[in-house]
Amino acid sequence: MSTFKAPKGTYDLIPPRSAKFLAVREAIAAPLRNSGYGYVETPGFENVELFSRGVGESTDIVSKEMYTLTTRGGDKLALRPEGTASVLRAALEANLHKQGNLPVKLYYSGSYYRYERAQAGRYRHFSQVGAEAIGAEDPALDAELIILADQAYRSLGLKNFRILLNSLGDKECRPAYRETLQAFLRGLDLDEETLRRAEINPLRVLDDKRPEVQKQLADAPLLRDYLCDACKAYHEEVRALVTAAGVVFEDDPKLVRGLDYYTRTTFEFVHGGLGSQSAVGGGGRYDGLSEMIGGPALPSVGWALGVDRTVLALEAEGVELDIARTTDVFAVALGDAKPTVFGLVTELRRAGVSADMSYGGKGLKGAMKDANRSGARLAVVAGDRDLAEGVVQLKDMESGEQTAVPLDALVESVRTKLA
Ligand code: HAM
Repeated sequence: MSTFKAPKGTYDLIPPRSAKFLAVREAIAAPLRNSGYGYVETPGFENVELFSRGVGESTDIVSKEMYTLTTRGGDKLALRPEGTASVLRAALEANLHKQGNLPVKLYYSGSYYRYERAQAGRYRHFSQVGAEAIGAEDPALDAELIILADQAYRSLGLKNFRILLNSLGDKECRPAYRETLQAFLRGLDLDEETLRRAEINPLRVLDDKRPEVQKQLADAPLLRDYLCDACKAYHEEVRALVTAAGVVFEDDPKLVRGLDYYTRTTFEFVHGGLGSQSAVGGGGRYDGLSEMIGGPALPSVGWALGVDRTVLALEAEGVELDIARTTDVFAVALGDAKPTVFGLVTELRRAGVSADMSYGGKGLKGAMKDANRSGARLAVVAGDRDLAEGVVQLKDMESGEQTAVPLDALVESVRTKLA
């Protein structure tokens, strides 16, 4: 124990559990790479205005949860609370959208920061793998992303997740709905803060989890009934393509997301095993975001899946990931055999065999304990007498069987035994 602890709302990824995080990141990234998405990495912090303009001044993320700082040079920065605004900013800055092949498809994996009330599944530092398809208005892209997320979760063995789908309309139809909803909300018995929210961002009130509010919202007008013909047709096409792929979803006309940039398609992946933090991932279309941050019109769609919550969901379902054993061979050097054994371990590693050895000058008993703990299938043991005879002892850790192997035949013998 040191004087310091990980800051509130954060935790360290430590072996062996950390291997699950790597496996989850890889399982989400693999189908994206396989579908034309290229890897993008952006800085951990950005100009604070990118998020206030992009994600929205009135969202909790911007108004309450951003870690902001002013640099010595006077720049106002924020640790990134999400990835979409940054990735779009990067694509615009690199002029990726001008290179002729839209959509630009990008994926990313990294750390995000929100000053939230910490609880199980809700952290101040968390990780996401995300995907953005920038610069095309095509229901097949929305469908592709939903299907790829489903594929990623399924490839991990996750079963009890649900896909919620909605359309938030566009600048043609949402304003009229917004007014209708506002008029409805003004007639309810709501506290002052909620009434204020109804004036700034009435759709967010639909997302209020309190039962006394939900009860009053039972008859709230739904955007579904106010969609313009173009939005309706677009949404039906997304639904049809996802259905045809055999991916099951639920229409959720009250689904609103916590970020303001969404238009038309919005979706969330939820899991029942996580308590109140049920969203394991979410996303949607953001046709106006590029213009909001000073770019040209670039209709786009994307999602981000939470790595932390996906791991929790897997654990809740009791799914054991098939995580490869890390060490195949563990070497033990006795007496003056260290330099030779060290050389053999290097040789094994260069030959692609995963190998480790005992360090710190331990005796045979302590070193063999290390070998057992490593989970290695084979142990290489050598002392001065073995080396004088030009051999090492190769021990099968399961059967206990031990054979003397000439130094220059070790790599071959190990390969044969492991095969
Ligand atoms: P989001 O819904 O804010 O969307 O976050 C996506 C996922 O990140 C959540 O479903 C959750 O699994 C995880 N997550 C968010 N906050 C936390 C937290 N405090 N602790 C643990 N996990 C968390 C976005 O971030 C959008 N940028 C997604 C997107 C991409 N939309 C379009 N493109």
